[in-house]
Amino acid sequence: MLAVHDKRIADAVARLGAENAFQVLARAREIEATGRRVVHMEIGEPDFDTPKHIKDAAVASLMAHDTHYTPSAGIMELRETVADYATRFRKMPKPYTHANVTVAPGAKPIIWNILSAILNPGDDFIYFDPAYPAYGSASTYLQANVIRIPLRESLDWRMDLDELERRVSDRTKAIVINSPHNPTGGVLLREDLERIAELAQKHDFLVISDEIYSRNFYLETEFISIASLPGMQERTIIVDGFSKAYAMTGWRLGYAVMPEELCKIVTLFNNNTFSCVATFVQKAGVAALTGDDAPVVEMNEIFRQRRDKLVKGLNEIPGMSCTLPEGAFYAFPNVQQITHDDKALASYLLEEGGVACGGGSSFGPAGAGYLRFSYAASLDDIDYALSQIRTVLPKFKG
Ligand SMILES: Cc1ncc(COP(=O)(O)O)c(C=O)c1O
Repeated sequence: MLAVHDKRIADAVARLGAENAFQVLARAREIEATGRRVVHMEIGEPDFDTPKHIKDAAVASLMAHDTHYTPSAGIMELRETVADYATRFRKMPKPYTHANVTVAPGAKPIIWNILSAILNPGDDFIYFDPAYPAYGSASTYLQANVIRIPLRESLDWRMDLDELERRVSDRTKAIVINSPHNPTGGVLLREDLERIAELAQKHDFLVISDEIYSRNFYLETEFISIASLPGMQERTIIVDGFSKAYAMTGWRLGYAVMPEELCKIVTLFNNNTFSCVATFVQKAGVAALTGDDAPVVEMNEIFRQRRDKLVKGLNEIPGMSCTLPEGAFYAFPNVQQITHDDKALASYLLEEGGVACGGGSSFGPAGAGYLRFSYAASLDDIDYALSQIRTVLPKFKG
């Protein structure tokens, strides 16, 4: 939270959070500019290039003069493509149509617009701690009654569903789930989703299911969306996008899929905030979802190799222990034997070792005593990072 005392600034600004990873990235770049080697494991972006057929589609669209305003929900071609993809990939009982889809410059602004569309001040709003910071920032800004339920390392970063059951009520407006999960890499199992679905129907609340890592999935079983469970399509808002699966972070393209009436209201917020997304970027999205899927599978295989190397290496460092992430591209080691001041340790590793990572507490109080490493770094970089950590850690005064 910011401490803002200037009377020219709105009081509400004090309720805004921020994504710490961008601040660490800025400092890491400063250090790099001095000529030192820095391994970037602080920010959640694939280091791969966007697949060529996706870039070609954007260039062709630009050259065809697709450079004007578009509808606030997105171009029809992308909305229809997303509806087909979401139906197929998630094995939905009833097909989605374009009317269920709204498009945004990234999943992050759509999260803001969804929460603006549903939360009144004082509404009970539940998410899991630690969490991607946008949920806490937007819901606190909107003055919802935020209820954070800790995720458990002992449950491979799944939630304690008995605790969830105790905390939900008929006052619960919505709950956010995020599987695979940022920052822990945890994945919810079918039985978890079924229990959440049962509670949602019993207490009549919405489920916001952030599935942006649904293609970064390492279990042998298939990804399951809560939206596909009986009775859930009508009460689930799926958040997804192109940043993670297709290495398209800088393109800014995301979307949400939800019941039609709600979709119109979220689109009204799109209209009031960013107006629309560039056509050539949306055409790239169409190419991503309809074109060759092999690059996604190849990138995932490389992520899996990096995950295995990083997690093994972290577990060999005295004082650290790390669960095996089952999705996304983050490792979330426990460093409580070394320190509870995870931010101080993250900053020390960057300043002394040139290893940029995040403090777990920047994802919520339950992240205290953990670090987040994004393994969107080459195997060589991971080796270097591990050796730097081993070298500098003994001198850390926590
Ligand atoms: C869980 C989660 N949701 C949403 C986003 C937003 O992604 P983007 O705005 O790049 O689409 C991120 C990015 O890190 C994320 O980790």
